Amino acid sequence: MASKYQAPRGTFDILPEQARARARLEAAATEIFARAGYESIATPAFEDTALFERGVGRSTDIVRKEMFTFEDKGGRSLTLRPEGTASICRAYLEHGLHKQAQPVKLSYLGPFFRHERPQAGRYRQFHQLGAECIGTDSPLADAEVIMLLSDLLEELGVPAVELRLGSLGSFEARRAYLEDLKAHLHAHEGELSKDVRERIDINPLRAFDSDDEGTRGVMESAPTIVERLEGEDAEHFAEVRALLDGAGTSYVVDPTLVRGLDYYTRTIFSFVCDRLGAQSEIGGGGRYDGLIEQLGGPSTPAVGFAAGIERILLALDEEVPTAGRDAFIAIADAGQRPRAMALAVELRHAGLSAEVDLAGRGLKGQLKHANRIGARRVLILEADGNAQLRDMESGEQRPADPGKLVDEMRGGNP
Ligand code: HAM
Repeated sequence: MASKYQAPRGTFDILPEQARARARLEAAATEIFARAGYESIATPAFEDTALFERGVGRSTDIVRKEMFTFEDKGGRSLTLRPEGTASICRAYLEHGLHKQAQPVKLSYLGPFFRHERPQAGRYRQFHQLGAECIGTDSPLADAEVIMLLSDLLEELGVPAVELRLGSLGSFEARRAYLEDLKAHLHAHEGELSKDVRERIDINPLRAFDSDDEGTRGVMESAPTIVERLEGEDAEHFAEVRALLDGAGTSYVVDPTLVRGLDYYTRTIFSFVCDRLGAQSEIGGGGRYDGLIEQLGGPSTPAVGFAAGIERILLALDEEVPTAGRDAFIAIADAGQRPRAMALAVELRHAGLSAEVDLAGRGLKGQLKHANRIGARRVLILEADGNAQLRDMESGEQRPADPGKLVDEMRGGNP
C-alpha cells in the first residue's frame, strides 16, 4: 500500500538497485582522487548564511533565489549548503590549513541543496563530487583538476562529453571588461529580455547564458574577455591549454562560457553531455584566486571543480547487477538454525558474503530464494548433522565434509 507521505518535491530516494551504480561511481572517484593525492574533506550540510552570500555572491541566482535558508532556535540565519567551495575555504582558514605545505589538495562528495524548479537532472537535493587545489596559481593545478574530472568521466564511460574552456582574466582585467560589456548591453537595452536588462549592472556576464532570442542577437556582437586577455592572464590561459594539449585532453575554447558563481577568476571550464537535454552540464569549475581573501583570509589562489552525481548517472544510464552472494545456508530442519547462524558468521569473518534464511521458508523456498539473490553455492544443513553442497550454476549437489564447511564453501569445485 502506498504511503500518504512522499519524498519532498525535487528530492528522491536512492533504492538499492540505484545505489549500486552510485557506489561504482563513488568508488571510481575516490580512487582517482586518492591516486592524485586529493585527500577527503567533509564539511557540515549547513553553514552561516553570510558565508554563501559573501562567497558565492549576492548577484548570483543561487544566493538570490535558490538557498534553503532558515533561522535556528538561537535566531542565527543558517543555509543548507548550495555548493562546497565556500565551505571548504571556510574550513581551510578555520583550521589553519594555509599554514601547511601548499597547495592543499582536497576532495569531497555529498549532498547539496538548491531551491530550483525540479526537472530531469535538476533537483533540490542533489549530490556533487569535487576537488579543490588551494594555495597555488600554477596552470599545472588548473590542468590537473580538469584532467581529474576528464579521467573520471572517461573511466566510467560517460558518452558524448565535451569540455568547454574559457578564462575570465584576473579581477582587475575583468572589472575593465565588465564596464565595456555593460556599455554594450546598455546600448542595446531595448533588444534584451527583461531579466537580463534588470541585471545589466549587477551581473552582465549572465547575458551570455540567456535563451532569449533578442538577447542572443545582442550577445553575438558583444565583446568577450577571452579575446582581450593580456599579460599574465593570457600567459596563464595559454599554458593551461598547452598542458591539456600535451596530455591529449581535447577541449573547445568557448569565449562565451560563464558560470553561475561570482568567485571565478582566470580559468573556467564546463563538461557537457549532449545526451542530457536541458541540464547538460555534468560538471564544471575554475580558478577562484580571490575567494579566500574575500572570506577574510590571506590572498590565496585556488582552483577546483564539482560534478553532479545524478547527471553522471543519467548520462551513463546503466544498471549495475547485484554482486550476488558467495554462499547461502539453507536449513532443512529447524534444529539446525543455531548451526546455520554460526556458520554464516564464520563465513563472513572469512571474507565471504553469506546469508541465512531469515523468513522461515521451506527448503524448496530457500533454494528459490538463494537463486533469486544470486548465491553461487548453497549449503543445506540436514537434521542428522550432515550437509549437502550445491553449486547453483551447474545444479550439481554432493555431500560436504561437516568438519570443513568453511573450507568447502571457500574453495574448489563442489
Ligand atoms: P556548479 O556549476 O554550480 O558549481 O555545480 C556543479 C555541478 O553540480 C553542475 O555542473 C551540475 O552537474 C551539478 N548541479 C548543480 N545544481 C544541480 C541541481 N539543482 N540538481 C542536480 N545537479 C546539480 C559549483 O557548485 C562549484 N562549487 C564548482 C567548483 C568547485 N568551482 C570551483 N571549485
